[in-house]
Amino acid sequence: MNNEVFKKNRKNLMELLEDNSLAIFFAGNAVQKTADEQYSFTPNRNFYYVTGIDEEEHILLLKKVQGKVEETLFIKRPDLVMEKWVGKTIRENEAKEVSGVENVKFLDEFKAALNVIFTSGEAENLYLDLERRSFDASSTQREKFAAEVTALYPYVRIRNIYNIISELRLVKSPEEIEEMRKAIKITIEAVETLMKSSRPGMKEFELEAYFDFICKQRGVKDLAFNTIAAAGKNATILHYVDNNSEMKAEDLMLFDLGAQVNYYNADISRTFPVDGKFRDRQREVYESVLSVNKAVIEMMKPGANWGKINEKATDLLAEECIKLGLIKEKSEVKKYYFHSIGHSLGLDTHDVGKRWGDLKPGMVFTVEPGIYIEEEGIGVRIEDDVLVTENGYEVLTKDMIKEVEDIENFMKK
Ligand code: GLY
Ligand code: MN
Ligand code: MN
Repeated sequence: MNNEVFKKNRKNLMELLEDNSLAIFFAGNAVQKTADEQYSFTPNRNFYYVTGIDEEEHILLLKKVQGKVEETLFIKRPDLVMEKWVGKTIRENEAKEVSGVENVKFLDEFKAALNVIFTSGEAENLYLDLERRSFDASSTQREKFAAEVTALYPYVRIRNIYNIISELRLVKSPEEIEEMRKAIKITIEAVETLMKSSRPGMKEFELEAYFDFICKQRGVKDLAFNTIAAAGKNATILHYVDNNSEMKAEDLMLFDLGAQVNYYNADISRTFPVDGKFRDRQREVYESVLSVNKAVIEMMKPGANWGKINEKATDLLAEECIKLGLIKEKSEVKKYYFHSIGHSLGLDTHDVGKRWGDLKPGMVFTVEPGIYIEEEGIGVRIEDDVLVTENGYEVLTKDMIKEVEDIENFMKK
Protein backbone atom coordinates (compact mmCIF):
# COMPACT_ATOMS: atom_id res chain seq x y z
CA MET A 1 0.00 0.00 0.00
CA ASN A 2 1.08 3.57 -0.63
CA ASN A 3 2.70 5.16 2.42
CA GLU A 4 0.01 7.89 2.39
CA VAL A 5 -2.24 5.29 4.06
CA PHE A 6 0.12 4.83 7.00
CA LYS A 7 0.79 8.58 7.26
CA LYS A 8 -2.96 9.15 7.45
CA ASN A 9 -3.36 6.43 10.06
CA ARG A 10 -0.69 8.07 12.23
CA LYS A 11 -2.23 11.50 11.78
CA ASN A 12 -5.72 10.27 12.74
CA LEU A 13 -4.30 8.50 15.75
CA MET A 14 -2.20 11.41 17.04
CA GLU A 15 -5.21 13.71 16.88
CA LEU A 16 -6.91 11.50 19.44
CA LEU A 17 -4.03 11.49 21.94
CA GLU A 18 -3.53 13.97 24.75
CA ASP A 19 -0.91 16.63 24.25
CA ASN A 20 2.57 16.13 25.74
CA SER A 21 2.55 12.44 25.04
CA LEU A 22 4.56 9.69 23.43
CA ALA A 23 3.16 6.69 21.64
CA ILE A 24 5.42 3.70 21.02
CA PHE A 25 4.65 0.72 18.81
CA PHE A 26 6.67 -2.49 18.62
CA ALA A 27 6.76 -4.78 15.56
CA GLY A 28 7.24 -7.80 17.85
CA ASN A 29 9.27 -10.97 17.41
CA ALA A 30 8.67 -14.40 15.95
CA VAL A 31 7.49 -16.87 18.58
CA GLN A 32 9.64 -19.90 19.29
CA LYS A 33 8.13 -23.15 18.03
CA THR A 34 10.64 -25.80 19.06
CA ALA A 35 14.43 -26.03 19.50
CA ASP A 36 15.85 -23.41 17.12
CA GLU A 37 12.69 -23.33 14.99
CA GLN A 38 10.35 -20.34 15.15
CA TYR A 39 6.81 -19.77 13.97
CA SER A 40 6.85 -17.56 10.91
CA PHE A 41 6.83 -13.92 11.94
CA THR A 42 3.71 -11.83 11.65
CA PRO A 43 3.82 -8.18 12.67
CA ASN A 44 1.83 -6.75 15.54
CA ARG A 45 -1.18 -5.47 13.64
CA ASN A 46 -1.24 -2.07 15.31
CA PHE A 47 2.45 -1.55 14.48
CA TYR A 48 1.67 -2.53 10.89
CA TYR A 49 -1.34 -0.19 10.79
CA VAL A 50 0.87 2.81 11.54
CA THR A 51 4.02 1.80 9.59
CA GLY A 52 3.27 -0.76 6.84
CA ILE A 53 6.49 -2.52 7.90
CA ASP A 54 6.40 -6.26 8.45
CA GLU A 55 9.78 -7.15 9.88
CA GLU A 56 10.71 -8.12 13.41
CA GLU A 57 11.99 -5.87 16.18
CA HIS A 58 11.53 -2.40 14.68
CA ILE A 59 10.01 0.33 16.89
CA LEU A 60 7.98 3.42 16.03
CA LEU A 61 8.08 6.40 18.36
CA LEU A 62 5.51 9.17 17.96
CA LYS A 63 5.80 12.33 20.01
CA LYS A 64 3.19 15.04 20.41
CA VAL A 65 4.40 18.08 22.36
CA GLN A 66 2.47 21.36 22.32
CA GLY A 67 0.46 20.10 19.39
CA LYS A 68 3.54 19.35 17.27
CA VAL A 69 4.03 15.75 16.16
CA GLU A 70 7.45 14.17 15.55
CA GLU A 71 7.87 10.66 14.18
CA THR A 72 10.94 8.44 14.51
CA LEU A 73 11.36 4.90 13.34
CA PHE A 74 14.06 2.77 14.97
CA ILE A 75 15.20 -0.10 12.76
CA LYS A 76 17.74 -2.89 13.12
CA ARG A 77 21.29 -1.89 12.28
CA PRO A 78 22.31 -4.11 9.33
CA ASP A 79 24.25 -7.19 10.44
CA LEU A 80 26.15 -8.28 7.35
CA VAL A 81 27.19 -11.66 8.79
CA MET A 82 23.66 -12.54 9.90
CA GLU A 83 22.32 -11.46 6.54
CA LYS A 84 24.30 -14.27 4.91
CA TRP A 85 22.09 -16.68 6.89
CA VAL A 86 18.67 -15.10 6.96
CA GLY A 87 18.65 -12.37 4.33
CA LYS A 88 18.65 -8.59 4.39
CA THR A 89 16.75 -6.48 6.86
CA ILE A 90 15.06 -3.26 5.85
CA ARG A 91 17.38 -0.29 5.15
CA GLU A 92 16.81 3.35 6.17
CA ASN A 93 15.64 4.49 2.73
CA GLU A 94 13.33 1.46 2.38
CA ALA A 95 11.85 2.02 5.82
CA LYS A 96 11.22 5.67 4.88
CA GLU A 97 9.62 4.65 1.62
CA VAL A 98 7.33 2.00 3.11
CA SER A 99 6.17 3.97 6.15
CA GLY A 100 6.50 7.59 5.10
CA VAL A 101 8.38 8.29 8.37
CA GLU A 102 11.19 10.72 7.48
CA ASN A 103 13.33 10.29 10.57
CA VAL A 104 14.85 6.79 10.70
CA LYS A 105 17.40 5.76 13.34
CA PHE A 106 18.80 2.48 14.63
CA LEU A 107 17.42 0.42 17.50
CA ASP A 108 20.62 0.86 19.53
CA GLU A 109 19.79 4.60 19.69
CA PHE A 110 16.27 4.07 21.08
CA LYS A 111 16.93 4.03 24.82
CA ALA A 112 19.09 7.17 24.72
CA ALA A 113 16.42 9.02 22.75
CA LEU A 114 13.80 7.96 25.26
CA ASN A 115 15.91 9.04 28.20
CA VAL A 116 16.28 12.54 26.76
CA ILE A 117 12.53 12.88 26.23
CA PHE A 118 11.57 11.62 29.69
CA THR A 119 14.23 13.49 31.68
CA SER A 120 13.48 16.76 29.88
CA GLY A 121 9.89 16.46 31.09
CA GLU A 122 8.51 16.94 27.57
CA ALA A 123 6.26 13.90 27.66
CA GLU A 124 3.92 13.26 30.58
CA ASN A 125 2.09 10.32 29.04
CA LEU A 126 3.33 7.19 27.35
CA TYR A 127 0.75 5.43 25.19
CA LEU A 128 1.39 1.73 24.55
CA ASP A 129 -0.62 -1.03 22.93
CA LEU A 130 -1.54 -2.87 26.13
CA GLU A 131 -3.88 -5.39 24.55
CA ARG A 132 -4.78 -8.14 27.02
CA ARG A 133 -6.89 -11.10 25.90
CA SER A 134 -7.28 -12.66 29.33
CA PHE A 135 -6.14 -12.25 32.94
CA ASP A 136 -3.94 -15.33 32.68
CA ALA A 137 -2.27 -14.67 29.32
CA SER A 138 1.52 -14.23 29.58
CA SER A 139 2.90 -10.70 29.72
CA THR A 140 3.56 -9.05 26.40
CA GLN A 141 6.70 -7.21 25.36
CA ARG A 142 4.72 -3.95 25.68
CA GLU A 143 3.59 -4.73 29.24
CA LYS A 144 7.14 -5.55 30.26
CA PHE A 145 8.31 -2.31 28.66
CA ALA A 146 5.61 -0.37 30.56
CA ALA A 147 6.82 -1.88 33.84
CA GLU A 148 10.42 -0.98 33.00
CA VAL A 149 9.55 2.62 32.15
CA THR A 150 7.50 2.94 35.35
CA ALA A 151 10.45 1.69 37.42
CA LEU A 152 12.92 4.08 35.79
CA TYR A 153 10.71 7.14 35.19
CA PRO A 154 7.95 6.84 37.81
CA TYR A 155 6.55 10.28 36.92
CA VAL A 156 5.54 9.12 33.40
CA ARG A 157 1.90 8.09 33.12
CA ILE A 158 1.28 4.88 31.16
CA ARG A 159 -1.81 4.98 28.94
CA ASN A 160 -3.39 2.24 26.85
CA ILE A 161 -3.70 3.08 23.16
CA TYR A 162 -5.32 -0.24 22.26
CA ASN A 163 -8.96 0.84 22.41
CA ILE A 164 -8.22 4.13 20.65
CA ILE A 165 -6.49 2.52 17.68
CA SER A 166 -9.06 -0.28 17.62
CA GLU A 167 -11.89 2.20 17.05
CA LEU A 168 -9.92 3.75 14.17
CA ARG A 169 -9.32 0.33 12.62
CA LEU A 170 -13.04 -0.43 12.61
CA VAL A 171 -13.57 2.03 9.75
CA LYS A 172 -11.59 0.99 6.69
CA SER A 173 -10.07 3.37 4.15
CA PRO A 174 -10.61 2.74 0.41
CA GLU A 175 -7.04 1.42 0.21
CA GLU A 176 -7.69 -1.10 2.98
CA ILE A 177 -10.92 -2.21 1.33
CA GLU A 178 -8.95 -2.74 -1.87
CA GLU A 179 -6.64 -5.19 -0.07
CA MET A 180 -9.66 -7.02 1.29
CA ARG A 181 -11.15 -7.23 -2.20
CA LYS A 182 -7.93 -8.92 -3.37
CA ALA A 183 -8.06 -11.44 -0.52
CA ILE A 184 -11.73 -12.13 -1.25
CA LYS A 185 -11.12 -12.57 -5.00
CA ILE A 186 -8.46 -15.22 -4.39
CA THR A 187 -10.66 -16.95 -1.80
CA ILE A 188 -13.56 -17.10 -4.25
CA GLU A 189 -11.36 -18.55 -6.99
CA ALA A 190 -10.19 -21.16 -4.52
CA VAL A 191 -13.71 -22.06 -3.35
CA GLU A 192 -14.85 -22.46 -6.95
CA THR A 193 -11.90 -24.78 -7.56
CA LEU A 194 -12.85 -26.79 -4.48
CA MET A 195 -16.44 -27.16 -5.54
CA LYS A 196 -15.42 -28.33 -8.99
CA SER A 197 -13.01 -30.85 -7.51
CA SER A 198 -15.32 -32.37 -4.90
CA ARG A 199 -15.73 -36.18 -5.25
CA PRO A 200 -17.21 -38.75 -2.85
CA GLY A 201 -14.49 -40.77 -1.12
CA MET A 202 -12.01 -37.91 -0.86
CA LYS A 203 -10.68 -36.85 2.52
CA GLU A 204 -11.56 -33.36 3.71
CA PHE A 205 -7.87 -32.37 3.62
CA GLU A 206 -7.60 -33.40 -0.02
CA LEU A 207 -10.20 -30.84 -0.99
CA GLU A 208 -8.67 -28.29 1.37
CA ALA A 209 -5.38 -28.72 -0.52
CA TYR A 210 -6.91 -27.05 -3.58
CA PHE A 211 -7.48 -23.92 -1.48
CA ASP A 212 -3.90 -23.96 -0.23
CA PHE A 213 -2.64 -24.46 -3.77
CA ILE A 214 -4.60 -21.56 -5.26
CA CYS A 215 -3.55 -19.27 -2.41
CA LYS A 216 0.12 -20.17 -2.73
CA GLN A 217 -0.04 -19.83 -6.48
CA ARG A 218 -1.52 -16.33 -6.13
CA GLY A 219 1.26 -15.24 -3.77
CA VAL A 220 -0.68 -15.49 -0.50
CA LYS A 221 1.84 -15.82 2.35
CA ASP A 222 -0.55 -16.66 5.14
CA LEU A 223 -4.18 -17.62 5.56
CA ALA A 224 -6.71 -15.63 7.55
CA PHE A 225 -7.18 -18.58 9.97
CA ASN A 226 -7.04 -22.37 10.06
CA THR A 227 -9.30 -23.67 7.32
CA ILE A 228 -12.46 -25.49 8.37
CA ALA A 229 -13.20 -28.33 5.93
CA ALA A 230 -16.06 -30.26 7.46
CA ALA A 231 -18.15 -33.02 5.90
CA GLY A 232 -21.53 -34.11 7.27
CA LYS A 233 -21.69 -34.16 11.05
CA ASN A 234 -18.25 -32.52 11.38
CA ALA A 235 -19.84 -29.32 10.15
CA THR A 236 -21.85 -29.12 13.37
CA ILE A 237 -18.60 -28.43 15.26
CA LEU A 238 -18.05 -24.70 14.76
CA HIS A 239 -14.28 -24.62 14.61
CA TYR A 240 -13.59 -28.14 13.34
CA VAL A 241 -10.07 -28.11 11.89
CA ASP A 242 -9.01 -31.79 11.95
CA ASN A 243 -10.10 -32.03 8.31
CA ASN A 244 -9.25 -35.73 8.09
CA SER A 245 -12.59 -37.50 7.58
CA GLU A 246 -13.86 -39.11 4.44
CA MET A 247 -16.42 -37.16 2.40
CA LYS A 248 -19.46 -39.28 1.59
CA ALA A 249 -21.63 -38.68 -1.49
CA GLU A 250 -24.65 -37.82 0.65
CA ASP A 251 -22.77 -35.37 2.91
CA LEU A 252 -22.95 -31.62 2.87
CA MET A 253 -19.49 -30.07 2.90
CA LEU A 254 -18.89 -26.89 4.88
CA PHE A 255 -15.83 -24.81 4.08
CA ASP A 256 -14.94 -21.76 6.16
CA LEU A 257 -11.74 -20.19 4.90
CA GLY A 258 -9.95 -17.05 3.89
CA ALA A 259 -6.86 -15.78 2.12
CA GLN A 260 -4.82 -12.90 3.53
CA VAL A 261 -3.32 -10.17 1.37
CA ASN A 262 -0.95 -7.63 2.94
CA TYR A 263 -2.38 -8.76 6.29
CA TYR A 264 -5.99 -7.97 5.28
CA ASN A 265 -8.29 -10.96 5.54
CA ALA A 266 -11.16 -12.62 3.74
CA ASP A 267 -13.56 -14.84 5.71
CA ILE A 268 -16.03 -16.87 3.66
CA SER A 269 -18.16 -19.92 4.44
CA ARG A 270 -19.92 -21.96 1.81
CA THR A 271 -21.82 -25.22 2.18
CA PHE A 272 -22.38 -27.57 -0.78
CA PRO A 273 -23.23 -31.23 -1.41
CA VAL A 274 -20.20 -33.47 -1.91
CA ASP A 275 -21.74 -34.95 -5.07
CA GLY A 276 -23.27 -31.66 -6.22
CA LYS A 277 -26.91 -32.55 -5.49
CA PHE A 278 -28.78 -31.29 -2.41
CA ARG A 279 -30.98 -33.90 -0.69
CA ASP A 280 -34.49 -32.61 0.21
CA ARG A 281 -33.80 -32.08 3.89
CA GLN A 282 -30.41 -30.51 3.18
CA ARG A 283 -32.05 -28.09 0.76
CA GLU A 284 -34.67 -27.14 3.38
CA VAL A 285 -32.04 -26.36 5.98
CA TYR A 286 -29.86 -24.58 3.44
CA GLU A 287 -32.73 -22.36 2.26
CA SER A 288 -33.51 -21.48 5.88
CA VAL A 289 -29.96 -20.31 6.53
CA LEU A 290 -29.78 -18.51 3.19
CA SER A 291 -32.98 -16.58 3.91
CA VAL A 292 -31.47 -15.28 7.16
CA ASN A 293 -28.16 -14.47 5.43
CA LYS A 294 -30.07 -12.31 2.94
CA ALA A 295 -32.41 -10.73 5.49
CA VAL A 296 -29.49 -9.70 7.71
CA ILE A 297 -27.52 -8.22 4.82
CA GLU A 298 -30.61 -6.14 3.94
CA MET A 299 -30.51 -4.58 7.42
CA MET A 300 -27.00 -3.24 6.99
CA LYS A 301 -26.71 0.51 6.59
CA PRO A 302 -25.16 3.45 8.43
CA GLY A 303 -26.81 3.98 11.81
CA ALA A 304 -28.12 0.42 12.14
CA ASN A 305 -27.01 -1.14 15.40
CA TRP A 306 -24.98 -4.34 15.11
CA GLY A 307 -26.21 -5.59 18.50
CA LYS A 308 -29.84 -5.19 17.40
CA ILE A 309 -29.08 -6.87 14.07
CA ASN A 310 -27.54 -9.75 15.99
CA GLU A 311 -30.68 -10.12 18.13
CA LYS A 312 -32.89 -10.00 15.06
CA ALA A 313 -30.75 -12.63 13.36
CA THR A 314 -31.14 -14.98 16.31
CA ASP A 315 -34.89 -14.40 16.21
CA LEU A 316 -35.06 -15.17 12.48
CA LEU A 317 -32.99 -18.33 12.92
CA ALA A 318 -35.29 -19.39 15.75
CA GLU A 319 -38.28 -18.99 13.41
CA GLU A 320 -36.50 -21.09 10.79
CA CYS A 321 -35.70 -23.79 13.35
CA ILE A 322 -39.40 -23.94 14.28
CA LYS A 323 -40.35 -24.24 10.59
CA LEU A 324 -37.80 -27.03 10.19
CA GLY A 325 -39.47 -28.87 13.08
CA LEU A 326 -36.35 -28.70 15.21
CA ILE A 327 -37.77 -26.72 18.14
CA LYS A 328 -41.13 -25.58 19.47
CA GLU A 329 -40.12 -22.40 21.33
CA LYS A 330 -37.81 -19.67 20.08
CA SER A 331 -35.85 -19.87 23.33
CA GLU A 332 -34.61 -23.32 22.29
CA VAL A 333 -32.72 -21.94 19.29
CA LYS A 334 -29.35 -22.17 21.08
CA LYS A 335 -29.49 -25.91 20.52
CA TYR A 336 -29.01 -25.38 16.77
CA TYR A 337 -27.45 -21.91 16.50
CA PHE A 338 -24.93 -20.89 19.12
CA HIS A 339 -22.71 -18.13 17.81
CA SER A 340 -23.30 -14.52 16.88
CA ILE A 341 -24.24 -13.30 13.44
CA GLY A 342 -20.78 -12.01 12.55
CA HIS A 343 -17.83 -9.83 13.36
CA SER A 344 -15.77 -6.97 12.06
CA LEU A 345 -13.17 -8.05 9.50
CA GLY A 346 -9.87 -6.40 8.64
CA LEU A 347 -6.26 -6.76 9.72
CA ASP A 348 -7.57 -9.39 12.12
CA THR A 349 -10.16 -11.93 11.05
CA HIS A 350 -12.07 -11.29 14.24
CA ASP A 351 -11.18 -7.64 14.01
CA VAL A 352 -10.71 -5.20 16.86
CA GLY A 353 -13.09 -2.46 17.97
CA LYS A 354 -16.31 -2.11 19.91
CA ARG A 355 -18.40 -5.18 19.17
CA TRP A 356 -22.01 -4.04 19.23
CA GLY A 357 -21.96 -0.40 18.11
CA ASP A 358 -23.70 1.43 15.28
CA LEU A 359 -22.63 0.77 11.70
CA LYS A 360 -20.70 3.46 9.83
CA PRO A 361 -19.63 3.69 6.19
CA GLY A 362 -16.30 1.91 5.73
CA MET A 363 -16.94 -0.80 8.28
CA VAL A 364 -16.72 -4.40 7.06
CA PHE A 365 -18.64 -7.16 8.84
CA THR A 366 -19.13 -10.83 8.16
CA VAL A 367 -22.71 -12.10 8.01
CA GLU A 368 -22.63 -15.77 8.88
CA PRO A 369 -25.85 -17.40 10.03
CA GLY A 370 -25.76 -21.16 10.54
CA ILE A 371 -27.90 -24.07 11.64
CA TYR A 372 -26.17 -27.13 13.06
CA ILE A 373 -28.18 -30.34 13.48
CA GLU A 374 -25.88 -32.94 14.96
CA GLU A 375 -28.51 -35.71 15.06
CA GLU A 376 -29.12 -35.34 11.31
CA GLY A 377 -25.45 -34.86 10.38
CA ILE A 378 -26.24 -31.51 8.76
CA GLY A 379 -24.32 -28.30 9.40
CA VAL A 380 -24.89 -25.26 7.22
CA ARG A 381 -23.19 -21.88 7.45
CA ILE A 382 -23.27 -19.24 4.73
CA GLU A 383 -20.82 -16.40 5.36
CA ASP A 384 -20.43 -13.23 3.35
CA ASP A 385 -18.20 -10.19 3.89
CA VAL A 386 -20.20 -6.98 3.74
CA LEU A 387 -19.01 -3.37 3.46
CA VAL A 388 -21.22 -0.64 4.95
CA THR A 389 -21.54 2.15 2.35
CA GLU A 390 -22.95 5.70 2.55
CA ASN A 391 -26.43 4.47 1.61
CA GLY A 392 -26.49 0.83 2.58
CA TYR A 393 -24.14 -2.02 1.89
CA GLU A 394 -21.98 -3.75 -0.68
CA VAL A 395 -21.53 -7.51 -0.48
CA LEU A 396 -17.81 -7.85 -1.15
CA THR A 397 -18.27 -11.59 -1.64
CA LYS A 398 -21.15 -11.18 -4.13
CA ASP A 399 -19.30 -13.07 -6.87
CA MET A 400 -19.35 -16.24 -4.77
CA ILE A 401 -22.51 -18.17 -5.66
CA LYS A 402 -24.85 -19.24 -2.88
CA GLU A 403 -28.24 -20.10 -4.44
CA VAL A 404 -29.07 -23.84 -4.43
CA GLU A 405 -29.71 -23.85 -8.18
CA ASP A 406 -26.46 -22.01 -8.94
CA ILE A 407 -24.45 -24.41 -6.79
CA GLU A 408 -26.02 -27.48 -8.40
CA ASN A 409 -25.53 -26.12 -11.91
CA PHE A 410 -21.97 -25.06 -11.16
CA MET A 411 -21.04 -28.45 -9.74
CA LYS A 412 -22.65 -30.30 -12.66
CA LYS A 413 -20.15 -28.72 -15.07
N1 GLY B 1 -13.76 -18.56 10.52
C1 GLY B 1 -14.17 -18.06 11.74
C2 GLY B 1 -15.33 -17.20 11.60
O1 GLY B 1 -16.05 -17.30 10.64
O2 GLY B 1 -15.56 -16.35 12.40
MN1 MN C 1 -15.50 -17.81 8.76
MN1 MN D 1 -16.35 -15.16 10.36
